Amino acid sequence: MEFKLLNNSQSNQEILIIFTYLDLKKDKSENQIPFSKQFNSGKSDSFLSKIRDDGEITGAKGEQVLLHTMMIDDFKYKSDYLKNELSPKRILFYGLGSREKVSTDDVREACALISRRIKTLKIQEASIILETIKNINNNEAACSIVEGFLLGSYKFDEFKSSGKKKKSNIETVQIIIDRLEDEVKNSVDSAVITSEASLKARDLVNRPPNLVNPKYLKDYSENIANSNENLSIEVLDKKELEKLQMRAFLGVAQGSKADPYGIILNYIGDSGNPSNNIWLIGKGITFDSGGLSLKPPMSMIDMKSDMSGGASVIAAMDAIGKLKPKINVTGLCLATENMPGGGAQRVGDIVTSMNGKTIEIENTDAEGRLTLADAVEFANQRGAAKIIDVATLTGAMVISLGHGLIGAFGNDDDLIQTLISAGEKTGEKIWHMPLDEASKKQNRSKVADIKNTGGRAAGSVTAAHFIGEFVGDTPWVHLDIAGTAMSASNKGWISQGATGYPCRTLIETVFKLSY
Ligand code: BES
Ligand code: MN
Ligand code: ZN
Repeated sequence: MEFKLLNNSQSNQEILIIFTYLDLKKDKSENQIPFSKQFNSGKSDSFLSKIRDDGEITGAKGEQVLLHTMMIDDFKYKSDYLKNELSPKRILFYGLGSREKVSTDDVREACALISRRIKTLKIQEASIILETIKNINNNEAACSIVEGFLLGSYKFDEFKSSGKKKKSNIETVQIIIDRLEDEVKNSVDSAVITSEASLKARDLVNRPPNLVNPKYLKDYSENIANSNENLSIEVLDKKELEKLQMRAFLGVAQGSKADPYGIILNYIGDSGNPSNNIWLIGKGITFDSGGLSLKPPMSMIDMKSDMSGGASVIAAMDAIGKLKPKINVTGLCLATENMPGGGAQRVGDIVTSMNGKTIEIENTDAEGRLTLADAVEFANQRGAAKIIDVATLTGAMVISLGHGLIGAFGNDDDLIQTLISAGEKTGEKIWHMPLDEASKKQNRSKVADIKNTGGRAAGSVTAAHFIGEFVGDTPWVHLDIAGTAMSASNKGWISQGATGYPCRTLIETVFKLSY
């Protein structure tokens, strides 16, 4: 899909999108012509006004009215601009509700729904008049259009034999703007990069776990690093992981035939200032069977998505390398399967983690925190100034916040706030969760320094506490995306299957920290 910024000129468009608002009639400033100044002919008897007066176009949020202009006698609405310069074959009026309340979320969602409608109509190009978007500035509007179209039209059909033949894809989206501004152009370009990163993360998660295994994630990351001049990669194989004494992580890996990998993607954006750095750590369990504490069948469905954190980090690093913020960023993904093979970790095993703490394994299905314990220790040893980890960590997260919110835990309120406001911008919403002392005690072990489960109560909190034990004082935020990594259905710009969460928010956060 290509986005073109145009200055009021292209004609013969397949479909022109015009946003409408509830409070049309009240607005005298636009002389009752419903859409934009460009259409203001000064006449109130245009056919568009008639449709509006009949109550067919009300501007209500989500309202869609599609008109074929060839059916309109002589195409005789009174706007010369629309008729002579744009002359679209179709016009889609899309209601955004009350114009004072329009947000970037609304526009992103609207464009996502529009993109799906257009796909079903098998139209390859669409045009939008930017000035018909009210209440938000042109940069935000353009960004939301790109996100809505790219994220909303996504469908994972790589493995459908029939899907390959007749694919209907939107090829061009024209954004028509009164005055071409560099800022809007930059806004479009960066929105394309961040949205495409999010789609890469979705692809990685949606692809089946017999394909996306630890080696696949490693190879994929190598490809990203090789095709991005600002990224470098370091791969830790099993031998090196053993040398580093990552026994908590290796304990998880030992039940699988697949070799584990440590994947480190490096971006240097502030070379003179190595302490200006942040580590993004993603959980990379390419399949979570539970291990010997085997999951029941229904709970194992979708466990290919247990590398969503890793996928979002790897894809975010790709975008960061392209967008070049002034900060150093390291992406880390420890990749393995959690399987119940003959060599699998037992319940009751005690492992010594990379940082020296001993861990009692009470449940082999609590493998994410074991992996992350060694990951954050590795980051600390490498001099991480800030750490954000992303993980599909606990089923309890789904119970507490459901599917609309990421849970954020951490030891640094500023960093949490930065993430929350980044999430408000991207639409990947984040909720601040507690790390209280009472639940921390649930991780106490009778035989080791700590155990890997804390009981049923506050399951997401005890899991976060576990990671916190290994983070120490480094400013840190843990994002539990167990409820948000996958979506059961299409919801606005979120498509069925992997959501790409929180890839765009990670990129946005890195930019906020780079100022
Ligand atoms: N990967 C799962 C968490 C999960 C559950 C992610 C549902 C997405 C949807 C994690 O490894 C896990 O199994 N957690 C256990 C922990 C328990 C054994 C303490 C859980 O939440 O049941
Ligand atoms: Mn598990
Ligand atoms: Zn897991």
